[in-house]
Amino acid sequence: MTDPRTPPEAFLEVRDLRIHFPTDDGLVRSVDGLDFRLERGRTLGIVGESGSGKSVTSLGILGLHNRRNCRMSGEIWLDGTELVGSSPEKVRRLRGRKMAMIFQDPLSSMHPFYSVGSQIVEAYRIHHDVSKKVARKHAVEMLGRVGIPTPQKRVDDYPHQFSGGMRQRAMIAMALSCDPELLIADEPTTALDVTVQAQILDLLRDLQEEFNSAIIMITHDLGVVAELADDVLVMYGGRCVEQATVEAAFHAPAHPYTWGLLGSMPRLDRARSERLMPVKGTPPSLINLPSGCAFHPRCAYADLTAGRSTAEVPELTETSPGQLAACHLPAERRRRIWEEEIRPNL
Ligand SMILES: Nc1ncnc2c1ncn2[C@@H]1O[C@H](COP(=O)(O)OP(=O)(O)OP(=O)(O)O)[C@@H](O)[C@H]1O
Ligand code: SF4
Ligand SMILES: [Mg+2]
Repeated sequence: MTDPRTPPEAFLEVRDLRIHFPTDDGLVRSVDGLDFRLERGRTLGIVGESGSGKSVTSLGILGLHNRRNCRMSGEIWLDGTELVGSSPEKVRRLRGRKMAMIFQDPLSSMHPFYSVGSQIVEAYRIHHDVSKKVARKHAVEMLGRVGIPTPQKRVDDYPHQFSGGMRQRAMIAMALSCDPELLIADEPTTALDVTVQAQILDLLRDLQEEFNSAIIMITHDLGVVAELADDVLVMYGGRCVEQATVEAAFHAPAHPYTWGLLGSMPRLDRARSERLMPVKGTPPSLINLPSGCAFHPRCAYADLTAGRSTAEVPELTETSPGQLAACHLPAERRRRIWEEEIRPNL
């Protein structure tokens, strides 16, 4: 029998990804049927409020979940290799050489007992057969490139001797030291002040241009998405509720939850660093997701769908070429609500 799983043409393609965690309270469905693709040289922004499954998705792609307490299914194709069914050893080899991650919390992903430089050296030497001296020179160069002043001195510092912004840069240096073809950046700028934030986004843009890498940018901050991403994936309760180009997501968003996110965007008259508190109500439980559309308890339009919002899970369907949304309201109706009720009040 032939393998029904055909490798896609896209550089990265995720198909029906499910990542569940059995716990004492029940099965946590952190990611529950996610599909997307990403080409080299492009940036996909993944947005969604806390607990929507963004980090779990990225850790899943990198093969960083402990397989003992995590059930993962679906397919993740990276440049022709399927990762979900690959051995941990094979995925580990791809990590660093082909894909790397900038973690949400730089302290937890850097070892406190080793100098920053030696950690970059180790990461580099896993995949490059070079002497320590050559690797150290490379580490100094990378620290310089991410804007660490006097890198030849700072290379021997320990993580706690770096400020938050510098640690973030050092982690970026570590992630980039192997020229990853896929870079996943999980809230890379949240903890940083606006100036450093802007520098880091510039840096990512430069590196993408230089290496033609594919980037997944995970963030609460739609401003970051607007600046850096080509496409946007909006997650809600472990699923995708809208996928669109950045232009469409900002100018003609097609899902009520995306409208909520846009409404909560920091404006110029508010501090950019303000943590977003999108949309009234609380995020759904991933153990007992609300029936039908998981967003229905918070959606102002749920009672316009003749009961379908509470009874049927809406499929992701094309609302305009290249734009997908999961909502029972007819696309035309949503377009009118957006144009007449939402946009004028943003
Ligand atoms: N190992 C685990 N065991 C059980 N539940 C988990 C595990 N890892 C993550 N989760 C749960 O999965 C859900 C999604 O978590 P995830 O870290 O992906 O959220 P997120 O979208 O990255 O949120 P944030 O914006 O706060 O970083 C959360 O409810 C979290 O508690
Ligand atoms: S399906 Fe219903 S509840 Fe869900 S977003 Fe659409 S209108 Fe709102
Ligand atoms: Mg996260």
